[in-house]
Amino acid sequence: MKRIAVLASGRGSNVQAVIDAISAGTLRAECVRLITDNPDAHAIMRAGRAGVPVTVLDYASYASKEAYEADLFAAMTDCRADLFVLAGYMRIIGQAITDTFAGRMINIHPALLPAFAGLHAQRQAIDYGVKVAGCTVHFVDGGMDSGPIILQACVPVLETDDENSLAERILVEEHRILPAAAALFCEERIAIEGRRVRILPARD
Ligand code: GAR
Repeated sequence: MKRIAVLASGRGSNVQAVIDAISAGTLRAECVRLITDNPDAHAIMRAGRAGVPVTVLDYASYASKEAYEADLFAAMTDCRADLFVLAGYMRIIGQAITDTFAGRMINIHPALLPAFAGLHAQRQAIDYGVKVAGCTVHFVDGGMDSGPIILQACVPVLETDDENSLAERILVEEHRILPAAAALFCEERIAIEGRRVRILPARD
């Protein structure tokens, strides 16, 4: 059974989706830890309810990003996870960590990358005027939302949408494709070939 650690900064609905998929048996893995940069993250309560141990690294209490990342690195190493799932983790991760855990860290982003990387992706989509939006699960590399893409899902942008209504519609798809991508990883069905990710057929 693969070991999954989740990283989250806030509400934690994507953490919940991972926990629920494990309970449902669609994601055959053990969630061994939640690591959060925010002591007030609602994700902490969700992890607690599921019996997942939590490491809180209060970003605001650190003197520098380097000091924070040294502890993040130690926490990630310590939990001996096969896969790290960034599920609403709102910080850019430094190169030392992305290099060490390359090919073992995935992130959910609420846009159809490479469009609308960075913060407020749904607002960027509304402001740009696109007619189709969506979400992406990708491997984390040294750039911002730039690693190889594993899964994407799209939703329509309606005339009546604002940032919030679009975010809600995208979130439904996030909760589907994030656990699905984690499951593909855990079933060893992912091959990274340069920028492209090949999904291998299921084994019997
Ligand atoms: C989700 O929409 C996630 O895609 C986004 O933050 C939200 C977290 O919600 N992540 C990013 O924008 C990362 N760049 P959640 O805490 O309920 O999962």
